[in-house]
Amino acid sequence: MGGPITKNGPAPLTRPETPALEFGHAWDYAPAPEAIDHVRIEPRQQLFIGGAFRAPRSGKHFDTVSPSTEQKLAEVAEADERDVDDAVQSARRAYDRYWSKMPGSERAKYVFRIARALQEKARELAIVESMDGGKPIKESRDVDLPLAAAHFFYHAGWADKLDYAFHGRSWRPLGVAGQIIPWNFPLLMAAWKVAPALACGNTVVLKPAETTPLTALMLARIVEEAELPPGVVNVITGAGATGAALAAHPGVDKVAFTGSTEVGKRIQRAVAGSKKKLTLELGGKAANIVFADAPIDQAIEGIVNGIYFNQGHVCCAGSRLLVEESVHDLVVRKLRDRIATLRVGDPLDKNTDVGAINSRMQLDKIRELVAAGEEEGAQRFSAPCPLPSKGYWFSPTFFTGVAQSSRIAREEIFGPVLSVLTFRTPDEAIEKANNTMYGLSAGIWSDKGAKIFWMAQRLKAGVVWGNTYNKFDPSSPFGGYKESGFGREGGRHGLAAYTEVA
Ligand code: NAI
Ligand code: MG
Repeated sequence: MGGPITKNGPAPLTRPETPALEFGHAWDYAPAPEAIDHVRIEPRQQLFIGGAFRAPRSGKHFDTVSPSTEQKLAEVAEADERDVDDAVQSARRAYDRYWSKMPGSERAKYVFRIARALQEKARELAIVESMDGGKPIKESRDVDLPLAAAHFFYHAGWADKLDYAFHGRSWRPLGVAGQIIPWNFPLLMAAWKVAPALACGNTVVLKPAETTPLTALMLARIVEEAELPPGVVNVITGAGATGAALAAHPGVDKVAFTGSTEVGKRIQRAVAGSKKKLTLELGGKAANIVFADAPIDQAIEGIVNGIYFNQGHVCCAGSRLLVEESVHDLVVRKLRDRIATLRVGDPLDKNTDVGAINSRMQLDKIRELVAAGEEEGAQRFSAPCPLPSKGYWFSPTFFTGVAQSSRIAREEIFGPVLSVLTFRTPDEAIEKANNTMYGLSAGIWSDKGAKIFWMAQRLKAGVVWGNTYNKFDPSSPFGGYKESGFGREGGRHGLAAYTEVA
């Protein structure tokens, strides 16, 4: 690590900066584009209601584009209130006629079939996910798809064992679940919602986000091919108004939402006073805490994964880096060198690390907050990488000298932008980490297991990672404190969100 060790720990780094090694383009990666000629996207996509695809009553369609090329990929149906009503009624009929009467062991077979089909079609699904949403193919292929399938497998296993899930208490399904999901993990969030709902005997109406509807519609096709009874799963596309109509529909027994805190609050107001059960998974501003005794090179990888994974469009992103003051300069230098090597560009290139920003709107939001950070006096470093001329892009960026009160330390940026703050003692780290309206996740990097446990007990965050970050598993419950929402998804706790336990 360099520098003499004083009684206060390692002295701050004072040696002159090592010049970066210059190889010109000798070590560049050759393009490695994923073949897409086997993928056919239907130019006009309809609603999936009552087991069949059909045109929306609204008669309207809207475009979904590829954020990396700005090219239109397809037209997607816009469901209005009548379509929402049709979908909810079809889910109700399916619940009454088939799904609530079916033994768990039978439901399990259908959920298992979906899992298998996701694996069989994984390649195509990953490609469409990357085209529609902009995420790198290596992430959709190696993270989104395997986890989505794992979620269905896991819940298929629970479907006939629910009598053992609640310590001998009796349970029943809720009925019709209205599920509204965001654009950052389109298929994975669909899996997080649909799999536990079906396993627990509910029927669903799913509304994907308007910028990324294509893989949810492919999931609808899988549901059709898996021969689920008609209406057990309905997929309706549209924007905020469609989501609002679904959440407000009196025939819905349960609303599950993942997205912005603002819309979450609106939904909470809409269902207040009704019998509807509600779970909300909202924003975050997670602290990723690096102690001086941490394995620094591993921590750098964890910081990079924490904030630049999926362009930072991650509710549990480690967007506030808290570094112990004595290693601040070292960490910042290593982080700067590391992000200069990230490859930003074509999501369909297998070497791409950081893909396209999901939409023009999201890019504008990131730019606005970054400008605010600069105005408030923080120092900005953006990776000096070339960006494609078409599409929505933002270089991996971090800010040092960030004040706790600064907007970039408080607000969710939801982009590849990290705010670096410092601390001197574990108590100060806890104080700063918890000083947020959110509480979804946190990371701790230290050589000392006891310190990690001590910290984890005091962090007000639903998920705390130790010497790792962004690790997900269907058996591990996920969810927030405070304005990050309530309710858990995944694990035994997640089953409670889709059942009434007596
Ligand atoms: P959003 O919350 O508007 O979108 C999420 C979903 O909610 C979409 O399917 C959308 O169509 C639907 N929706 C929008 N308005 C609705 C309403 N009134 N009633 C019911 N459903 C509604 O998020 P948006 O505007 O796309 O992104 C804004 C910010 O939200 C982002 O910059 C980010 O900070 C945060 N966000 C957080 C996410 C998370 O996973 N925690 C996911 C997406 C966004
Ligand atoms: Mg799109």
